Amino acid sequence: MRPFILEDDKIKVLNQRVLPREEWVDVHDAFEGADAIKNMLIRGAPIIAVFAAYCLYIHRKKHPDTLKSAWESLKNSRPTGVNLHNVLEEIKPLIERGASPEEFYEFAQYVERREIEINEKIAKYGLLFFDKPKRVLTYCNTGSLATPGIGTALGIIKLAFRNGLVDKVFVGETSPYMQGARITAYELRKEGIPYTVVPDNHMPFLIYRGMVDIAIVGADRITKDGYVFNKIGTLSISLACKKFNVPFIVAAPSTTFDSKPFSEDTTVEIRKDTPSEDYLYYAFDITPPELVDYIISEKGIWKV
Ligand code: MRU
Repeated sequence: MRPFILEDDKIKVLNQRVLPREEWVDVHDAFEGADAIKNMLIRGAPIIAVFAAYCLYIHRKKHPDTLKSAWESLKNSRPTGVNLHNVLEEIKPLIERGASPEEFYEFAQYVERREIEINEKIAKYGLLFFDKPKRVLTYCNTGSLATPGIGTALGIIKLAFRNGLVDKVFVGETSPYMQGARITAYELRKEGIPYTVVPDNHMPFLIYRGMVDIAIVGADRITKDGYVFNKIGTLSISLACKKFNVPFIVAAPSTTFDSKPFSEDTTVEIRKDTPSEDYLYYAFDITPPELVDYIISEKGIWKV
């Protein structure tokens, strides 16, 4: 299954809100693309960035006059994940010099290919942590619907399993949108990897009980000084790992790296579609570097 399919004058987006039921939604321009991101039809920091590049391509083809405001609306669609912002900055010169639709298309293809290659490299580095078969804990979804390739954290797990080095995977269900229970479980099932889904509040207890050998998660933003923004709940995994001596690994492409050090000014998204006004839904949390053991990117392994 692919997160989106480019057609002549539109992009068909797989609605990840309703997976594993398969529903496709048509996106006709970058404004609609920004809405698809905002409404989480498409999610996962790396794929959002690739998708935005394709949105700007169709937008350039159809509505060149509103390209700048389309770019702005994409920029405002997801503030925390930095991949989107990094790629939008890369595209900016194309907009400024009035590049042709073909140039936008080539750029989007380049961004997609780059991300696929990065995934493969991350998986190979991640394999170095598997000296023997392990029980792995992961969270949210970092696989082939969150990236254009094998995945980041999930890519490592898939490669390790193919090498006979994964006994079992525990997946946090990832409340409230259930990316772990719906999407990661689906991917693991397809790969034939043994897994168990657990409610998010079980994850520290599994670690306490000695049921987890290694925790591997993705990231939406990693600051220059090693603060990791990721799905809310990641912080509790890292705390338990530190307390009970389980390696806590973050896997992310360099497109997830923020060139700036940590600042409280970075917006942590709060999702609005709560059951009532009594609720608070943070989308992400922040894990400080002292709780992270290693960060893996396509460039290598960073001991934090
Ligand atoms: O809200 P989501 O589903 O976009 O959150 C996704 C995550 O937190 C992932 O860990 C992150 O985007 C990395 S995906 C390779």
